[in-house]
Amino acid sequence: MHFDIHLKYKTLRYHKDTQPQSLFVFSLCLCVFVVCFITLPLPVQAACISNGCHTEIGQKQFVHSPVAEDECLSCHQKQKEVHPSGQGGDFILTSKGGSLCFTCHDDTEFNNRYKHGPAASGACMTCHDPHDSEQKSLLRMPLQEICLGCHSDFDQSMRDAKFIHSAIQKLDCSSCHMPHSSVEPKLLKKKGTELCFDCHKNLKAKYDSSLNKHKALYIERQCGNCHLAHYSTYSSLLMREGENLCYGCHGEDNSNRSEGLRNIRNDIEDKEVVHGPVADGECIACHDPHGNSYASILKGSYPQSFYAAYEENLYDFCFQCHDKELLTSETATNQTDFRNGDENLHYRHVARAQKGRTCRSCHSVHASNGQKLINPDGIKFGDWKIPIRFETTETGGSCMPGCHRGMSYDRAEYIDNSDKADGEKKERKIIYTPPPTK
Ligand code: HEC
Ligand code: HEC
Ligand code: HEC
Ligand code: HEC
Ligand code: HEC
Ligand code: HEC
Ligand code: HEC
Ligand code: HEC
Ligand code: HEC
Ligand code: HEC
Ligand code: HEC
Repeated sequence: MHFDIHLKYKTLRYHKDTQPQSLFVFSLCLCVFVVCFITLPLPVQAACISNGCHTEIGQKQFVHSPVAEDECLSCHQKQKEVHPSGQGGDFILTSKGGSLCFTCHDDTEFNNRYKHGPAASGACMTCHDPHDSEQKSLLRMPLQEICLGCHSDFDQSMRDAKFIHSAIQKLDCSSCHMPHSSVEPKLLKKKGTELCFDCHKNLKAKYDSSLNKHKALYIERQCGNCHLAHYSTYSSLLMREGENLCYGCHGEDNSNRSEGLRNIRNDIEDKEVVHGPVADGECIACHDPHGNSYASILKGSYPQSFYAAYEENLYDFCFQCHDKELLTSETATNQTDFRNGDENLHYRHVARAQKGRTCRSCHSVHASNGQKLINPDGIKFGDWKIPIRFETTETGGSCMPGCHRGMSYDRAEYIDNSDKADGEKKERKIIYTPPPTK
């Protein structure tokens, strides 16, 4: 029995890093060793438990194999003839620190590039009980208590935090960290997103399959660009709240993070009219932070171009919050204010089989210095900004855009904007500012 464990363990250990040739030599030596041993008188078996003395050892649910085998002398070396001597010092450990354990255990798992302080310094016993335990892996206490025992700052901040990751609350630290050493920094089990996708499988599917990927998930700290791994003051373990999360990247000028990263904060701050959800800091009411298959990672269909042939559902994105009827019928009474008499001007501009104007040809979706999110500076059309010169009246409005001559509408009284009409409010000039030549 005594040797079985030893041999089994040594074999396991040698098996890893020995060539078949040396394995053969090893086996040969082993046979000679075993044969010699059987013919020699057996050493005195230290029956420390079975003789009824140290019966307190080995009583717990999990017992260390050599202890279960009453093999105390594999770790303790007798110093005195008589035990108990009554003076102490009867035994010393056969070896100090980690080397005691490595006489039987393989040490490769401890020597990865990133090492955990206490394991690397051989303080195995701060976490393990050498004899027995009520915890798996012979841990002295429940795993999390062990970790937080030393990482007390962490413990304190976690207590103060409002939200704790279920991976910690329901599972434990070892679902992400290695206790001894790791090939990844911070003792992590896996690299970057792989660590998170171990549990968040549905997000992994999205990450791989979305046609419009949000670069934020693929650069720098990946998931860690927005989320904290352990706990947070904000819901969904976010690092910052509301728009400030996004402004971490989209709120700076000259960002050297990525080409094309514009300062969106500039488009919004100090503007007179800010779109409802933008004003509330709810960027994610409209954008899917994890990417998806819609343009501008919007949460629904919205055409990317200035013109688009109208189809049912093309503007689903806007109609998640707005009433679709502002657009869909040719005539309108109170479905929209953008009407001339009962002629629905949204329908007129947008719902066309060819060259329907998309909402962006009049509205700036984030914010604007003009009423109704219509930007007086004009709307981007390629490199050029189309001026709109929009003004409202009590019951209607007028515009003099780059697209056509000035026109007016009135909800109370239909205004005839046709060439033949002689209405006073009508403007006949066609204003066209050509795009700047490069
Ligand atoms: C795997 C190695 C190992 C084995 C096997 C082992 N011990 Fe120990 N023992 C230790 C270590 C290490 C300590 C010191 C513990 C410490 O520093 O916390 C210890 C401490 C002790 C102590 C001191 C009091 C205490 O519990 O800390 C006694 C008594 C003891 N062992 C008895 C035994 C007996 C009896 C057996 C056999 C049934 C045995 N040990 C088997 C490693 C071992
Ligand atoms: C005399 C050989 C020997 C020594 C010395 C030894 N171990 Fe073990 N240890 C074993 C054996 C055998 C097993 C059981 C392995 C198995 O089941 O695969 C084991 C298992 C373990 C386990 C896993 C227990 C479980 O429930 O999964 C831990 C943890 C452990 N040892 C820690 C230590 C520590 C810490 C030391 C040093 C204080 C140490 N061992 C020294 C032989 C030894
Ligand atoms: C910081 C606490 C800590 C220290 C220090 C520590 N361990 Fe561990 N050890 C653990 C934890 C936690 C586990 C269980 C890992 C798991 O369940 O994933 C473990 C597991 C083990 C196992 C079982 C491995 C297996 O695959 O089943 C062995 C053997 C072991 N440790 C030996 C040691 C030795 C030897 C040392 C000292 C050189 C040591 N440990 C130092 C926390 C520690
Ligand atoms: C005996 C005290 C002790 C225990 C128990 C302990 N740690 Fe540590 N831990 C340390 C020390 C010391 C460091 C190094 C601190 C430093 O470098 O700033 C450290 C560092 C770390 C690091 C950071 C490594 C890095 O590269 O920055 C992580 C992660 C970690 N521990 C996780 C754990 C986990 C998980 C547990 C529980 C399984 C645990 N610790 C238990 C003492 C401990
Ligand atoms: C969901 C996975 C996960 C779990 C569970 C987890 N961690 Fe971490 N931990 C991480 C990641 C990811 C990092 C690296 C964060 C970073 O680089 O900012 C980290 C870093 C750390 C660090 C280093 C902190 C620093 O700022 O350098 C410590 C210490 C640590 N964790 C301790 C723990 C402890 C203790 C537990 C259990 C209470 C635990 N972790 C549970 C994922 C996790
Ligand atoms: C060991 C499994 C596990 C790992 C690894 C893991 N998580 Fe989780 N996470 C969970 C569980 C369980 C929940 C709660 C159920 C859910 O929302 O899916 C959760 C929830 C979350 C939540 C939502 C929290 C909330 O309050 O709604 C976020 C965000 C999150 N995890 C991010 C991450 C990130 C980032 C990583 C990688 C650093 C990660 N998780 C790694 C298990 C894990
Ligand atoms: C650009 C910032 C950002 C990045 C990067 C990011 N997230 Fe999120 N994540 C969020 C926001 C914001 C929410 C809250 C969504 C909500 O409340 O609708 C969230 C919610 C979650 C949730 C909980 C709700 C859900 O959608 O399942 C999980 C889990 C999650 N993220 C995991 C991850 C993982 C894993 C990664 C890395 C692959 C990651 N996130 C990268 C911003 C981000
Ligand atoms: C870690 C930095 C980072 C954070 C934080 C971040 N983003 Fe991004 N985002 C980027 C990068 C990089 C791009 C790609 C820019 C480019 O190359 O055109 C991008 C692109 C976008 C795009 C354009 C996508 C497209 O298809 O045109 C939108 C919309 C966007 N982000 C919204 C958000 C929102 C909303 C948040 C907050 C929840 C956020 N971002 C947080 C880095 C970030
Ligand atoms: C009401 C819905 C809505 C909200 C809320 C919203 N956006 Fe947008 N965002 C859009 C739409 C629609 C587009 C596409 C504009 C276009 O193509 O004309 C867009 C485009 C973008 C783009 C890419 C286009 C570019 O100009 O580079 C970024 C980046 C962006 N938004 C970031 C943000 C940030 C950051 C917030 C929060 C401060 C936010 N968005 C809030 C609707 C919204
Ligand atoms: C997440 C919800 C949401 C989405 C999606 C959304 N909006 Fe809005 N929108 C609002 C809210 C809230 C208001 C403010 C309503 C109010 O103040 O009565 C608003 C107001 C407006 C206004 C009127 C502004 C004013 O000053 O009265 C316009 C124009 C507008 N939205 C256009 C759009 C367009 C175009 C889209 C699609 C590209 C869109 N919205 C998508 C929520 C949304
Ligand atoms: C040709 C320019 C133009 C286009 C294209 C346009 N709008 Fe408008 N929209 C307006 C004007 C002008 C108003 C203001 C009407 C008023 O209050 O007098 C307005 C008002 C609105 C309002 C406020 C409520 C209402 O109907 O009065 C919403 C919401 C709105 N538009 C959404 C949209 C959406 C969604 C699209 C794209 C499907 C769109 N608009 C396309 C010019 C336009």
